[in-house]
Amino acid sequence: MATITEEYKKKHPTSLKLYEEAKASMPSGVTHDVRYLTPFPIYMSHGKGPRKWDVDGNEYIGYVMGHGALILGHCHPEIVAEVNKQISIGTHLGFNTKLELRWAKAIQALMPSIEKVRFHSSGTEATLMAFRLARAFTGKSKIIKFINHFHGWHDYVAAAAGKYTSAGIPKKTAETMIMLPAGDIGMVEKQLKKDNDIAAVILEPTGAKGGALPLRPEFLAQLREVTERYGVLLIFDEVVTGFRVSPGGAQEKLNIKPDLTTLGKIVAGGFPGAAVGGKAEILDMTAFRNDPDWNGYSRVAHPGTYNANPMSAAIGSRCLELIASEPINKQADEASVLLKKGLNEVIKSLGVSAFSHGYGALAYMVFGIDYHGDLDICAVPHEQLLKSLNSEALPAFRRAMLNAGVDVMGGHQFILSSTHKKKEIEETADAFEKAVSQMKTEGCL
Ligand SMILES: Cc1ncc(COP(=O)(O)O)c(C=O)c1O
Repeated sequence: MATITEEYKKKHPTSLKLYEEAKASMPSGVTHDVRYLTPFPIYMSHGKGPRKWDVDGNEYIGYVMGHGALILGHCHPEIVAEVNKQISIGTHLGFNTKLELRWAKAIQALMPSIEKVRFHSSGTEATLMAFRLARAFTGKSKIIKFINHFHGWHDYVAAAAGKYTSAGIPKKTAETMIMLPAGDIGMVEKQLKKDNDIAAVILEPTGAKGGALPLRPEFLAQLREVTERYGVLLIFDEVVTGFRVSPGGAQEKLNIKPDLTTLGKIVAGGFPGAAVGGKAEILDMTAFRNDPDWNGYSRVAHPGTYNANPMSAAIGSRCLELIASEPINKQADEASVLLKKGLNEVIKSLGVSAFSHGYGALAYMVFGIDYHGDLDICAVPHEQLLKSLNSEALPAFRRAMLNAGVDVMGGHQFILSSTHKKKEIEETADAFEKAVSQMKTEGCL
């Protein structure tokens, strides 16, 4: 019988050919680190609903969903209609449009903490702007970030734990970031007590890596209380959780009001777009005043060619309006519950050490650990979960699942949409059984 890698190579000859060609133009043949896979990555061609196809004609049930941007699945008819309408009347009109007001209102309707908003092109820009706003508003320079929490790739957030997650970051930039382990409120308070130059605390509210390293809700409530007491801003990075873990994001689910929220992915309905919103007095740091000193020195500058571009504004608005008016989240959540159940049943029947956890249209795979506790907010210590996340089982799992017709984000994260139905979940469970059996045979587990 062919090994997982042999089968992978056999099924994807055109991807291999493209990879060989692409390497000459783009380092490692990819344009996002997470799209790299050995022995070579797959090149996709098109998608529809929960499914997509690669250049060799292989069909997949997709659990990447545009890196989390597509809660309506691929090519939702209302999104396609919105694209077609807007593309024929202007992709960039070089001034303000009614569309950006529609977009702002659609966000505010779902997230009441957003009193005012400004638009950007990516989640990375949104977290960068949130830091600038926080620093300008408080007059302080440092930001607390939790270890393993991901906020994009600008220099401040790519600096981590005293060493760098990327080359090319100035030491002085890294020194403005304070890294703390997530979940320990005592350490946060100790830091705030001894250092009065801290502007804000940022975090992924359901936990690091899109919720794969979950946080207990009590920690978020304590964080809100302690930041308020020390006059430090709380930034919820809802680039992933926004409009996904509930229509109003993690802040609705947890009933916590951050000072600032960063949004990306779903906010623009699958187009490039992002936003920072929050308290009016903080966002108003970007407002012009009839005062040359303010405009020249104190105001927060905010340019950006593609800010609230008409395509993203129209598509983002439509997507959020659908979330507000239809049971999109409910459908995606139900699929997620079914999926976790299906995966855990297969795990039990195969007798492997593994489990699936998560909530709100996101499910995660963990290998090498037996766990029978809460599967919504899993209580396994983060160090143990990290071992699974860094294990060689994940790329093998991703290849085996691709062979079986399922694409799993990063080999551990299932990102669902309202178009994933019982049929897709059953097919996924069958593919999972095949993939895990193969992994067992090859000694990957
Ligand atoms: C929580 C979080 N914040 C920020 C970002 C950065 O967003 P973008 O990739 O649009 O720059 C991401 C991207 O995955 C993310 O997951």
